[in-house]
Amino acid sequence: MTRAIILSGGWGTRLRPLTCTIPKTMIPVVNRPVIERQMLLLKKAGIKEIVLAVSVMADALKQYFKDGASLGLNILYTEETRPMGTAGAIKLAEELLEGENFFMLNGDVILNFDFKEMLKNHEDHGGIGTIASKSVDDPSRYGVLIINEQTMQIEKFLEKDEYSPPEGEPIPMPINAGVYVLEPEVFKYIPTKKKVSIEREVFPILAEEKRLYHYPITGIWKDIGKPTELLDGNILLLHDILKNHVIKRDNLIDNSLNVEGKVIIYPPCAIGENVIIRKNCIIGPNVIIGDNVYIDSGTEIKDTLIYNETFISKNVKIERSIISNDCHVKNGVILKGNKKGLVILASNVEIKENLRLINKSRDDITVCHHEVIKENIEYY
Ligand code: GTP
Repeated sequence: MTRAIILSGGWGTRLRPLTCTIPKTMIPVVNRPVIERQMLLLKKAGIKEIVLAVSVMADALKQYFKDGASLGLNILYTEETRPMGTAGAIKLAEELLEGENFFMLNGDVILNFDFKEMLKNHEDHGGIGTIASKSVDDPSRYGVLIINEQTMQIEKFLEKDEYSPPEGEPIPMPINAGVYVLEPEVFKYIPTKKKVSIEREVFPILAEEKRLYHYPITGIWKDIGKPTELLDGNILLLHDILKNHVIKRDNLIDNSLNVEGKVIIYPPCAIGENVIIRKNCIIGPNVIIGDNVYIDSGTEIKDTLIYNETFISKNVKIERSIISNDCHVKNGVILKGNKKGLVILASNVEIKENLRLINKSRDDITVCHHEVIKENIEYY
């Protein structure tokens, strides 16, 4: 096998307003688009050609990846004028994928696992499809797999709204991790020119025909569907990268970091290119900062993602927040999310001096792109 298809055409509604300006699969995880990390893992497993199934904000993806040469890959595109569903999208690529089995990935999952092992497992049992599975404590938000542990066959494929957990404590269940190996025969199950969901309309039939298997993922896995998952997934990946790094290190910091005076960095943190941090700042743990970010003196940041070109002024306090590109957080501001509800600034947001955006609720405080915030926001 040499090919893969990655789905990258959804609206990403649950990650709005971040996805109003950045396609969901281009959202950075530890400073690289989530989909680019997938491509590099696929390349490591010997994949040479990747089809990107694009639709929403297609141009942003095409401009970034072009023909794939900079990644050492051959990248082709299929484009839907409007999203055709997860199976409708791959049906468009039928001709590009014919002849041999291929990987299919949802472009919005953070993972680190061995694609080669999964392929071997698939070829050993000889079904039409193998779904990577992950056991999670609360399966109700995912497609749940009912499995025959002896044969590894998937007996039933239940979509999010079809699974009713037993009364009492939730039981960990294997869920659909959004990574598949498929045989070209799968195309026979997908009608043309129709919006079709592979999870709802194809997998249940393959399961009934006993031609669908699962492969349990052992490494990290997290989908970035919701903002808390995006933040926690970044932290999980940062820990994983540092744990597996060839040279033992506490942080992932670019050599260009310019620090003035005394700055404390509590690991783990990741810092991109051309970042300036001025005196008496406390950064970390679990802070990921992109490129060209300026952080002025006396500022404290933890458990937070900051994308590129953002300016954080003096004596700011930030916790459990996501700050997109080109924002300006002015002097004395407090941005404070919690475990369930974050503070999210989309791109080009300005927060005026000494304001407090404090979130004690389960809902995120979200600020849309180009908004200027002039009053406190508190959620209880
Ligand atoms: P939400 O609107 O928040 O549910 O996000 P989403 O639109 O990304 O949907 P979902 O999380 O179910 O999508 C999983 C993956 O499939 C993501 O990588 C999407 O980009 C992709 N995807 C979903 N629907 C389509 C589609 O109709 N066409 C294409 N090409 N990709 C899709």
